[in-house]
Amino acid sequence: MPFGRRRIAGKRFIVTGASSGVGRAVAIELTRRGARVLATARRADRLHDLARSVTPPLEHLAGDICDPAFRTRLIATAADRLGGIDGVVAAAGGGAIGRFQDLSPETFARIIDLDFTAPAELVRAALPNLVRGHDSVIVFIGSILGLHPLPLHGEYCAAKAALKSLAGTLRMELAADDVGVLLVDLGPTQSEFWDALVVGNRPPWSRGKRMPAEQAARAIVTAIERRRTEIVPGWQARGYALVARFMPRLIDRAAARHLRTPAPRR
Ligand SMILES: NC(=O)c1ccc[n+]([C@@H]2O[C@H](COP(=O)([O-])OP(=O)(O)OC[C@H]3O[C@@H](n4cnc5c(N)ncnc54)[C@H](OP(=O)(O)O)[C@@H]3O)[C@@H](O)[C@H]2O)c1
Repeated sequence: MPFGRRRIAGKRFIVTGASSGVGRAVAIELTRRGARVLATARRADRLHDLARSVTPPLEHLAGDICDPAFRTRLIATAADRLGGIDGVVAAAGGGAIGRFQDLSPETFARIIDLDFTAPAELVRAALPNLVRGHDSVIVFIGSILGLHPLPLHGEYCAAKAALKSLAGTLRMELAADDVGVLLVDLGPTQSEFWDALVVGNRPPWSRGKRMPAEQAARAIVTAIERRRTEIVPGWQARGYALVARFMPRLIDRAAARHLRTPAPRR
């Protein structure tokens, strides 16, 4: 069983969601610390710019992570261009805002697919390579909303809670294979998340201070190095996690009160 700090330099990572926000920042931070990265997302131009912005340039492949055929191609490309896989950082994700009763079954399926099924199936497909890799690690970018839900994010909260559960299962199942699992319960972070909503608009309670994506990325890569199993980066996220654990009804009451308050006139 490996012990001490996990070496980042020389490790071969797939990073999803690498065209913006947290995924992009993690791809840059891993490369800065000497890892080799295959970055993926749908926007090829963004990946191209990212590849040229780091030294040495990273590998990239554009495609839809919800497409099973693309996931298979991604794994084959990593095995081919990097010579194997020692890590997967599943950061691609997105949200939808609205009451459950008002959103459609299509939105439900899309968010569950993007935020739960795609990272889960990517990891399943990568497992033979990860088991053969060196001191491998799986990183799921979850959310504090996977610890305790908020209204208007039903699909997203359910997907992130499912991801937390799967991370726990895999952590136990893969311990004998020396494959580590890190769950990141991310809080409010600067990214394009609110511009890329599948449905709906940003709720007022999300407009507070957000952590820079670079700061989140440093915390994530340090946690990989230190073999952490779950982290909640930033004081805001840690505050939410504490209240969620010890006084969850405070969150429920505040959220219900908020929903009863009429929206301000524009
Ligand atoms: N920002 C926050 O406050 C916050 C809080 C908690 C958790 N998170 C989680 O953090 C992770 C990263 O999000 P972010 O905040 O960095 O948001 P972001 O800037 O919008 O990044 C999302 C990334 O996912 C990619 N993506 C979306 N749909 C995809 C698809 N179908 N196929 C392939 N790639 C896809 C996007 O690239 P393309 O559009 O180019 O495909 C983009 O690179 C997500 O899992 C999110 O749930 C964020």
